[in-house]
Formats: sequence, structure tokens, C-alpha cells
Amino acid sequence: MTKATQHAHFLVQAHLASLGTNSYVAIDATVGNGFDTVFLAQCVGETGLVIGFDVQDMSSATQYLVQAGLHHRVRLLQRGHETLLQSLKEVCPPDQMLPHVQAIMFNLGYLPHGDKSLTTRTETTYAALQQSAQILASGGILTVICYPAHDGGGEETEAVLAWAKKMPSSEYGVIHTKVLNKHGVPPELLVVYKY
Ligand SMILES: C[S@@+](CC[C@H](N)C(=O)[O-])C[C@H]1O[C@@H](n2cnc3c(N)ncnc32)[C@H](O)[C@@H]1O
Repeated sequence: MTKATQHAHFLVQAHLASLGTNSYVAIDATVGNGFDTVFLAQCVGETGLVIGFDVQDMSSATQYLVQAGLHHRVRLLQRGHETLLQSLKEVCPPDQMLPHVQAIMFNLGYLPHGDKSLTTRTETTYAALQQSAQILASGGILTVICYPAHDGGGEETEAVLAWAKKMPSSEYGVIHTKVLNKHGVPPELLVVYKY
């Protein structure tokens, strides 16, 4: 369980299971090829909903969801996660409240073997995290995988951690992990629990 992605999945799955219902709303803030989207679609249950964001084409993710038979649980939006709040208002019927979101996952950086110009950026990531903390339900979990090794990734990681450190401890529990016994600059995982 040393990969940051596996660790994030393990924590989100365990956390949702501990909440004890079988219908959740979750957000995949960085859909990419859809691995986290499929994972969340499995977690939310038959009547749950996953809303996914990415700035690039998500046909691979769509194909993966269809193959997994989970497409009906997911709404994919090709737009930046910094539009999170506005997008949720658009997705929800005008007479309904914003959904209670029990899990939000960010996997920052760029798609491996993809277009590196389509990487997440400090400013938009920061805006999306602020909105995520607001929209996250009480009892919800937020995970962020940061990649300090790539260009701009160090600055983005620092900004994410600085944001997390300032969260009021009466409202949020914040945990930061990274693998210590590997060469190079490993990904880091931030986990935020909203009380
Ligand atoms: C590391 S990849 C995500 C991998 C993905 N979770 C998966 O399972 O394949 C990061 C993704 O963030 C996307 N991205 C970049 N800027 C974004 C933004 N402002 N809003 C949403 N997604 C963004 C990239 O296009 C890329 O697909």
C-alpha cells in the first residue's frame, strides 16, 4: 500500500463504508483516464452520483466507465475544477440544494504519456480546494495527491500544504503522508476530514 493512489483509494473506501449508508455523492476533480472515477463510481452505490471534472477530452474515461457498467452513476464535465461550485449549481435543478458531497479526490499534475501542457496549476488548484472544503459534507473526506517532482509541481505542492495547514482544527482534521524510503521525489498524499 505504498503508492499514493492506492493509499487514497483505501482511505476513501474505508471512510465511505464507515458512514453507513449506500448512496453518496462524490467528486473526481481530475478525471484523466478515469481510474479514480471508476473507483468512486464503485464506492457511491447504485443510487449514488459521481461528478467528474477535467479540462481535456474524457472519452477514455467514458469508455472505461461503460466497460465497468458504471456510466449511469457518473456525470462528466469538461471544464476546470475551479468552476466546482458554479458547476454544481448548474448540475442541480434550481429548486434543489447543492448535494452533500461525501468524498472529493484530486490527483494533481498531468496524465502520464499525455499532454504535459494540460497540467494542474497552483492558482486553479487552490481555488478548487477552497470550494471543495466548502462543499464537502460534515463527515466527508477530501484527498489530494501532489507531485512535487515535475515542473511547477513543487510550488503547487507547497501551496496545497500551506492551504491545508491553515484549516481550522475545530472543523477539519488534516493528515499528510509520503513514502520516506524511496529514491527521488515521491508523490505526497494530503487527506482532509471534515468534522
Ligand atoms: C494525474 S492526471 C489525473 C489522473 C486520473 N485521476 C486518472 O485516474 O487517470 C491530472 C489530470 O488533471 C487534469 N487537469 C488539469 N487542469 C485541470 C483543471 N483545472 N481542472 C480539472 N482537471 C484538470 C489533467 O488534464 C489531467 O487529466
